Amino acid sequence: MRKDLEQILVEFRQEVERVATDEHLKQLHGKYFSREKGVLSAQLRRIREIPVAERPGFGQDVNLLKQEMEAEFDRLTRTLADEDYHRRVEQERLDITLPAVGLPRGSFHPIKMVEQELCGIFERMGYSIVEGPEIETDFYNFGALNFPPDHPARDEQDTFFVAGGRYLLRTHTSPVQIRTMQQLAPPLKIIAPGKVFRKDTPDATHYPIFHQIEGLVVAENVSLADLKGTLHDFARQFFAPDVRVRLRPSFFPFVEPGAEVDISCIFCGGSGCRICKQSGWIEILGAGMVHPNVFVNCGLDPEEHTGFAFGMGVDRMAILKYGVPDIRMFWENDVRFLNQFWYVQ
Ligand code: PHE
Repeated sequence: MRKDLEQILVEFRQEVERVATDEHLKQLHGKYFSREKGVLSAQLRRIREIPVAERPGFGQDVNLLKQEMEAEFDRLTRTLADEDYHRRVEQERLDITLPAVGLPRGSFHPIKMVEQELCGIFERMGYSIVEGPEIETDFYNFGALNFPPDHPARDEQDTFFVAGGRYLLRTHTSPVQIRTMQQLAPPLKIIAPGKVFRKDTPDATHYPIFHQIEGLVVAENVSLADLKGTLHDFARQFFAPDVRVRLRPSFFPFVEPGAEVDISCIFCGGSGCRICKQSGWIEILGAGMVHPNVFVNCGLDPEEHTGFAFGMGVDRMAILKYGVPDIRMFWENDVRFLNQFWYVQ
């Protein structure tokens, strides 16, 4: 190759050595290969100044130079692309040995979990779950349940009335008894979980919203013994296998006889402690045999049908079983409190 062309190749190679970026690569391409201003084109144009005899040799040399430079340029392009690829792989590398960041997992609210736990026990005894509205009428919440017109529970002091007194927030889940008996023919075996509302001032054991589960069985020849056996079975499953149950006569307008149901104290086993106030017993629910008037109010013949009903506070059950010191904790939604119930069901 002619000396002057050889020199161009040497310079080109030196420049190639210094190229590090795509931008730089583009500039180099322009400088040497551009049709109008490129170094190669300038050499080709020189042919007119070359003596005719030397022209074929010159032409060959320029072609050689062009091939060498193109090969060199291709190599450079590939090297740069390669480097770029490896740089990106390095940058995007994932360290799979790093410990994973745990995703916080939600869970049901403790009251929901305890409600499910309670419902599960009755479902396994063959009860079906039904629900009723939280906004009720006087008829379903009181009248049909045999409350006399002047009963104190109907008082504005205890009950939240809405829509100018046309409706009220149910004060217990017993209205679901009425709705069920109106809609379904006996035999019936249902439980009704849900929220209830009373005008209570919040303290450790009261909150104006709480939860109940109502139970109702209607069939032929249902007895008080059936009720007691059912509640004993339930208490053994929910609290402890050796828990004892007693019924204390009590009054609810919609049952006769009516009872308050106690379990032997789960904290002291019945010997007497602070929690059972030395009595050895803890009240857990209200119950009784469905009052004949309630059957009549639902269009059922009280001569034909017998039944029992019971109602329990879900919050109270949770407090007793899980040792919650204050009912208001269920409403504060402090995750340190909520997280402690992860093992329920
Ligand atoms: N509804 C009653 C209450 O809220 C509980 C209850 C239900 C009592 C069924 C007897 C029978 O206090």
